[in-house]
Amino acid sequence: MANRLVIENLSAGYGAVRVLREVSLEVREGELVALLGTNGNGKSTLLNAILGLVPPTAGSVRLEWDGQVTELAGFPAEKIVERGIALVPEGRRLIPHLTVEENLRLGGSGRRSRPSLRRNLEFVFAAFPVLLERREQPAAAMSGGQQQLLAIARALMTEPRILLIDEPSVGLAPIAVDRVLATVAVRFSATAVPQRLAVERFVPKLRETAQKIRQRFTDQQRNPPHRPGRAASLGGAT
Ligand SMILES: Nc1ncnc2c1ncn2[C@@H]1O[C@H](COP(=O)(O)OP(=O)(O)OP(=O)(O)O)[C@@H](O)[C@H]1O
Ligand SMILES: [Mg+2]
Repeated sequence: MANRLVIENLSAGYGAVRVLREVSLEVREGELVALLGTNGNGKSTLLNAILGLVPPTAGSVRLEWDGQVTELAGFPAEKIVERGIALVPEGRRLIPHLTVEENLRLGGSGRRSRPSLRRNLEFVFAAFPVLLERREQPAAAMSGGQQQLLAIARALMTEPRILLIDEPSVGLAPIAVDRVLATVAVRFSATAVPQRLAVERFVPKLRETAQKIRQRFTDQQRNPPHRPGRAASLGGAT
């Protein structure tokens, strides 16, 4: 059985507002999957639903890894991270007054990754040398692009099997986007979510890197098979 994350017919939303309608997607080990969609289309909601931060109302998030099958829908977020799913959230969510190294150590302090914290620190410092140079500085003292690298590095500290990155290109110079994608593509499966202004320069790069592009996500969300109407207007925000 191939190692993979399988999302099947996943629905989720906020109160009475259903944002995701029966979304299905698969990410295999070693694969880079890009998810594209307009603003307000539900990309962040999907990543947050995979992590359990937005509770799914129907459907399945199944991790098939090393011969074990685990249903993650309904698990709390910390348990899902323990199973090897990591999210680099939209807006980064760093702890600004803590240093670079403290932010990284927090990321790596979960039960599964704690024993190899030192090795993981070496890995992310080698992957992103700027973080080593600035390890004693507060996260807030860094540029936006550097903070994005730190947020990605913090997620890598959990030793993820599957890395979910929400809008990795925002705030990054094109050269930094190249470096991030190269690092991520070599070691991890990922769902990358670029859009907005970054989309013009980022999408061609992503096309080179990703093995699968879920461009139809937009169409599916705009034209749900059963209930057009409210979700369609949510999905068509731009
Ligand atoms: N906490 C929330 N409460 C209520 N509605 C929300 C919440 N977060 C998002 N939404 C709504 O859910 C829909 C999907 O939002 P989401 O953030 O998932 O889209 P997105 O594709 O990530 O957009 P963007 O490209 O702007 O990041 C939008 O209509 C948004 O207004
Ligand atoms: Mg978003």
